[in-house]
Amino acid sequence: MGKVVACATVIGATAACAVATVLIHRYVKKSKRWGKAIAILKEFEEKCATPTLKLKQVADAMTVEMHAGLASDGGSKLKMLISFVDNLPTGNEEGLFYALDLGGTNFRVLRVQLGGKDGVVGQEFTEVSIPPNLMVGTSHELFDYIAAELSKFVNEESEDFKVPPGRKRELGFTFSFPVKQTSISSGDLINWTKGFKIDDAVGQDVVAELRKAIERQGLDMNITALVNDTVGTLAGGRHTNKDVIAAVILGTGTNAAYVESAQAIPKWHGDLPKSGEMVINMEWGNFRSSHLPLTEYDYSLDAESLNPGEQTFEKIISGMYLGEIVRRVLYKMAEEAWFFGETVPSKLKVPFILRTPDMSAMHHDSSADLNVVKTKLKEILEISDTSLEVRKVVVALCNIVATRGARLSAAGIVGILKKLGKDTITNGEGQKNVIAMDGGLYEHYTEYRKCLENTLKELLGEGVSDSVIVEHSNDGSGTGAALLAASHSFYLDG
Ligand code: GLC
Repeated sequence: MGKVVACATVIGATAACAVATVLIHRYVKKSKRWGKAIAILKEFEEKCATPTLKLKQVADAMTVEMHAGLASDGGSKLKMLISFVDNLPTGNEEGLFYALDLGGTNFRVLRVQLGGKDGVVGQEFTEVSIPPNLMVGTSHELFDYIAAELSKFVNEESEDFKVPPGRKRELGFTFSFPVKQTSISSGDLINWTKGFKIDDAVGQDVVAELRKAIERQGLDMNITALVNDTVGTLAGGRHTNKDVIAAVILGTGTNAAYVESAQAIPKWHGDLPKSGEMVINMEWGNFRSSHLPLTEYDYSLDAESLNPGEQTFEKIISGMYLGEIVRRVLYKMAEEAWFFGETVPSKLKVPFILRTPDMSAMHHDSSADLNVVKTKLKEILEISDTSLEVRKVVVALCNIVATRGARLSAAGIVGILKKLGKDTITNGEGQKNVIAMDGGLYEHYTEYRKCLENTLKELLGEGVSDSVIVEHSNDGSGTGAALLAASHSFYLDG
């Protein structure tokens, strides 16, 4: 009996030993995989680094490219488009004007009653989302859809908004894509960005296209001004603050416009405007420089995009792409380090499934157990049972992507200030240089916004940064387009 007990003890001990060995193996394997995941994260972080010196190089490169783009068409990836806006609103604009704001997945239609010195005295708007199939369909379909909504909205005009007798309604058209303008109210589409790809519209005058669609609706309306959203934001910003010198959009896409001295635009062959100034739409989303910290994920995102080789800056800093970059890194971690278990979660394979607002929500999760991250991973990517450690890595990843974007956009702004000679001098006591800023990314992604503002201070230093103010111009591009329609009204001299 004694022998049997001894034997059983030996067998038991051997079995326990085997279980322990398996567990240790699993543990070692698991920790190897964990180590691999962390290594992927670290490598990504290093490649995304934006130390001050690099940002200064980016700012310098932006200034250099601005000069090159102003010198000749095609002189730079920065198109530096002439807006034909040589007079920004003065604050005397009066009357009823419409605006149509097209540039993302939604478009807006506004009617704005301008009351001269009293500013905007009445405003109504409607927002309509664009069915995804229209973003890659035909020009006719897209413009018909927009014109139909515009017509519906105009027909709902109440007694409070009346056009003076004998006048047609006038429209400011905010069209937020690269356009080579031929006048304040005409211009040819150069190329699409932000997920639009309607080939038959490229090279066409977008105002003519809209006019035809408006006519098909039986609507009688003049299209008085064609503006980019940055130009509209600049006009809207200047209307309320005379110190506004530039506008930046950080939304689905990204871009900037600023007021340039007309003499500093060698490619401008028209008469020198009386104001001596001209607003330039930089199309900075297409900026590219060897100093940009690009990673394997950015290269593959670009290669698989609708516009490979284009919009490099936009693809690393704007709202359309940030969530997608995070997804791509998570995918690699899932595939190479089994970050979410032995199989790659199938939803993680779907491009653009992780939207930037969801990334932002995860990044801002302040709960102790990162409950928001847990829920988002479950709801969007169908990944359940994540550990706190895994969720922390996801937050760290969001932080890396947002930080790179925000710091680079700050460097872009410094590039503009440099071009204007406003990065070193404070232009006397109390002089302010205001950047009108708009876009969902800036408005809603708090960590991004804070990082951008801190980086501006870091790059400009204390004295200068006190004179530079970033002002949120809420939906200024629509109002700005209405203002520009007013200041270019057909009836001004009549
Ligand atoms: C894209 C467009 C540009 C626009 C920006 C912000 O970069 O090309 O025209 O201003 O998005 O909407």
